[in-house]
Amino acid sequence: MQFSILVLSVASLLATTAVNAFPVADPASATLTKELAKRDGPGVYYCNDPNFTTDCFWLDVSTNSNGWCVSLLGTPWYKLISSFGPDPGVTCSLFSGDNCEGSHLDELVYPGLAETYSNQWDNQAGSFKCHVNK
Ligand SMILES: *[C@@H]1O[C@H](CO)[C@@H](O)[C@H](O)[C@H]1NC(C)=O
Repeated sequence: MQFSILVLSVASLLATTAVNAFPVADPASATLTKELAKRDGPGVYYCNDPNFTTDCFWLDVSTNSNGWCVSLLGTPWYKLISSFGPDPGVTCSLFSGDNCEGSHLDELVYPGLAETYSNQWDNQAGSFKCHVNK
């Protein structure tokens, strides 16, 4: 009985591993968390907690060569970002305002800020803007 439970556990562990094995465009740049996120073009990855933990979101910015403003208003990350990581080749700015105005933290590049509080930006960003480097 115990043996079959163990076999089942190993089988489900293997199944979980297989499901999470997404191909990663740039393995050297990927953290464990980033490997679990779907990745198409270069993007930006941001989370509610430091070190890219808890509720995270990855946004593709590959068509964003000139940079558009991403307002966080109405999302779970509004004034709640605690880690913010542009992918390699992407440069971002965080803004205190909801529409890329107010004070800003510029020239954020990979690997970004694992702890935004190190720059007094913990839970401060209302919007951000990113562009793919030319
Ligand atoms: C983030 O990770 C670093 C390195 O592992 C660790 O020293 C730090 O305490 C972590 N920060 C938080 C807020 O967990």
